[in-house]
Amino acid sequence: MSCRSQLASWQALQVSANKMKKVHLKDLFANDSTRFEQFSTQIPGVLFDYSKQLIDNSVISQLISLAQECDIVTWRDKMFSGEKINITEDRAVLHTALRNRCDSALIVDGDNISSVVNAELQKIKLFVDKVRSGQWLGYTGKTVKNVVSIGVGGSNLGPQMATEALKSYADNTLKVHYVSNVDGVQIASVLKDLDPETTLFVISSKTFTTSETMTNAKTAVDWFLESANDKQAIAKHFVAVSTNLEKTAALGIADENVFTMWDWVGGRFSLWSAIGLPIALYLGFDAFEAILEGAFEVDEHFKTAAFEENVPLLMALLSVWNTSFLGFDSQAILPYDQALHMLPAYLQQGEMESNGKHVNFAGETVPYTTVPIIWGMTGINGQHAFYQCLHQGNVVVPADFIASVTPQVNVGEHHDILLSNFFAQTEAMMMGVDADQVRADLTAKGKSEAEISELLNHKIHQGNRPTTSMLLDTVDAKTVGRLIALYEHKIFCQGIILEICSFDQWGVELGKGLASKIEAELLDDNVNHPHDSSTNGLMAYYKQRRVQ
Ligand code: F6P
Repeated sequence: MSCRSQLASWQALQVSANKMKKVHLKDLFANDSTRFEQFSTQIPGVLFDYSKQLIDNSVISQLISLAQECDIVTWRDKMFSGEKINITEDRAVLHTALRNRCDSALIVDGDNISSVVNAELQKIKLFVDKVRSGQWLGYTGKTVKNVVSIGVGGSNLGPQMATEALKSYADNTLKVHYVSNVDGVQIASVLKDLDPETTLFVISSKTFTTSETMTNAKTAVDWFLESANDKQAIAKHFVAVSTNLEKTAALGIADENVFTMWDWVGGRFSLWSAIGLPIALYLGFDAFEAILEGAFEVDEHFKTAAFEENVPLLMALLSVWNTSFLGFDSQAILPYDQALHMLPAYLQQGEMESNGKHVNFAGETVPYTTVPIIWGMTGINGQHAFYQCLHQGNVVVPADFIASVTPQVNVGEHHDILLSNFFAQTEAMMMGVDADQVRADLTAKGKSEAEISELLNHKIHQGNRPTTSMLLDTVDAKTVGRLIALYEHKIFCQGIILEICSFDQWGVELGKGLASKIEAELLDDNVNHPHDSSTNGLMAYYKQRRVQ
């Protein structure tokens, strides 16, 4: 069995991990006043500070050796050139081609995909300009006021996250709503305030077979036809983003209203394709292009920067170090910027759907933990919810702290207060508060010896919690593109280093298949389906009580 854990660098890192488990971050800082200079780097628009990670120079050089031993450069070049690195689905992985700002040809399976990508971008631009300028008219001759984007997973999270991130820049031309859940409550609450005559639906589904999206799309068509009462009118109110023209036509969507995707774009990496159409409708095509430009800059950085300065590679190596060597099996994403409030949910799919696997390229079980559990929320809200555990719990959760120098909207002293929390939290997580400090503090407050000994252990903070800080210039379209591309390449590098096929999602397919069987079984009154007793019992209970 060929395995990453047999590599010399892997074994050296295991020795280092045992050593570093006995080291405290505050001592690393106390012993080296240049730590920030050594372990931080910048790319345009982003300061990346990883000095508060539990590393030293020797760990970093071993991690770099690991990247070299795993042949990251060869794999990176294979990805950018369109080799079929999605080995379990025999597909290329070319989301980078969607944001390639150079005019160079890229031939995949005999086609120049640069030209098809550019043609599709042009189609998006024309459509967006038409809708936003009021030239696109609904079936009663009215302009579009509301866009409803229907999709799930990668066909929803990217556009919704970017829409939320950039809504400070939106004008009043259009409102965009997202429907992803098959729970009818969501679509009902969106549709109840909308007028079919001024509503445009974007049905986003690469496969156009995803049950949740198809159910929501059908409900939207029924709702629309209740007013329009004319199937021809669908062409003026429904567009689709998909690879499946047969299925889009079956829903009544005109072929010219279908924006294409390609099998070399994975769902969770598809925001750069026409899946990003709702973003472009909401903010205008120029903003969408700026997102692509930001991502392209990061692609160039990833391709050209030395390993020591290569931000996405460093992000991946640190994650591997924390998860597979130090044994921290969860990772928090904590944006100190309200605009990025959906980033944790977006990265949950990006990281966990990509690298949440347990076998290597050859299908052999790997002896190390792969992806950590990704979770989080805006830092300030998190501080008043789960940070207690981050500071004093007996699990250690490495965290990415993300903030911006310039807020999207400057309101009085808000931003300095926000940022003081950002700075304070990573310092507190690193330094902690030891017994001597607690004692001195309580003594200064006039507490008696008895009171001090009662409180002492409760007030000790161990510190030594690793964090990375990312300071963005501001959250604008370009920065959103940069940030997402950084994490995408992180995910890619992590997959290569851990020998994980990052681009399939068989675990999701399993649930999809079972749910569709059960959906059929719920239609009859039989309570004895071939399931385990728990599943049968739950289904029977539901069938007896459901509202018919
Ligand atoms: O969640 C699983 C998944 O396959 C994702 O990878 C994908 O983004 C999502 O479902 C939606 O799929 P589709 O775009 O085909 O509807």
